[in-house]
Amino acid sequence: MKGMLYYPWWFFQCKVLGRRKPLQSVIFITDRCNLHCRHCNVVKEGPDARSKSFAEVRDELQYCYDAGSRFVDFEGGEPHLWRDKGADADIDALIACAREMGFHSTTVTTNAWMPITARSDLIWVSLDGLEAAHDDQRGSGSFARAMQHIDQSAHPNLNVNMVVTNRNHHDLEGVARLVKEHPHLRRMSFSFYVPYDSRDLLVPPDVRNAVIDRAIELKKDGYPLMNSLAGLDLLRDPQRFIHKRQCWISNFIMVDGTRLPACPGEAADVCEDCGFGMGAEMMLLFSLHPEMVKAGLSVRASS
Ligand SMILES: C[S@@+](CC[C@H](N)C(=O)[O-])C[C@H]1O[C@@H](n2cnc3c(N)ncnc32)[C@H](O)[C@@H]1O
Ligand code: SF4
Repeated sequence: MKGMLYYPWWFFQCKVLGRRKPLQSVIFITDRCNLHCRHCNVVKEGPDARSKSFAEVRDELQYCYDAGSRFVDFEGGEPHLWRDKGADADIDALIACAREMGFHSTTVTTNAWMPITARSDLIWVSLDGLEAAHDDQRGSGSFARAMQHIDQSAHPNLNVNMVVTNRNHHDLEGVARLVKEHPHLRRMSFSFYVPYDSRDLLVPPDVRNAVIDRAIELKKDGYPLMNSLAGLDLLRDPQRFIHKRQCWISNFIMVDGTRLPACPGEAADVCEDCGFGMGAEMMLLFSLHPEMVKAGLSVRASS
């Protein structure tokens, strides 16, 4: 079943028949990276780092598709670094493979340290603040490189994701303005730092509330924030949504091949400190909240 007909069918299967079929898959293709961000829990170095082969990712895509998934996010590490020389394949070969298989949409998340060349339907560029805060979180010179590559990109669906920590929260408005004014950027979303490894960067509750208040104002003032108003409100306190969470809507395949039926946060036992807007948004999606359905459809459209 193709296109828009698929979603009511998926919803019926899951909501009415109680099945747990993922709609989106997050596949980690490498844990190699060209940056070493303060907040990141993914990256490995030296002999511990690994990249999957083309055949491994193709098998994982098929597994996800057969399970019901129709959106795929290629994650890392840095996806632009991924290569399988033996198969003469780069990230675009994975994107083409997913499309041929029948996925409706492909996404790549990038630090934009290298030119943004991936031809996915949607690109997330990570910007964790304006220059000083971004470089503090991601390393010296990383903001200038990311902006240079955004300036050079002709991708029609380039979006920004910001991870808000206790060191960069003051820059949410600056990033929202940058996105609004930059001709190559469509929208931004943000999430709060999730304490997988340490709690040092965790945003305290009063600051978290102030960031959400400001985000709601910015959205009402026409800034291109993708988080829904209802999702932002829920994100104030994870206790308000984690018992109703529907995080199985995304399944995850880790770099070591581990297949998780839901967000890795569940396995890492960090749901009480969830900062992922997606956790709240997926709950809203499953209750067919109109704002969320509209946001979900518009971010996947390429123009
Ligand atoms: C792991 S990175 C991989 C893609 C690419 N290297 C990048 O930085 O965009 C994917 C996203 O996860 C975010 N991220 C990493 N560690 C996080 C954490 N502890 N809490 C919340 N988001 C995190 C990154 O900021 C980035 O937006
Ligand atoms: S660029 Fe992405 S994958 Fe690399 S260290 Fe930073 S957040 Fe992690």
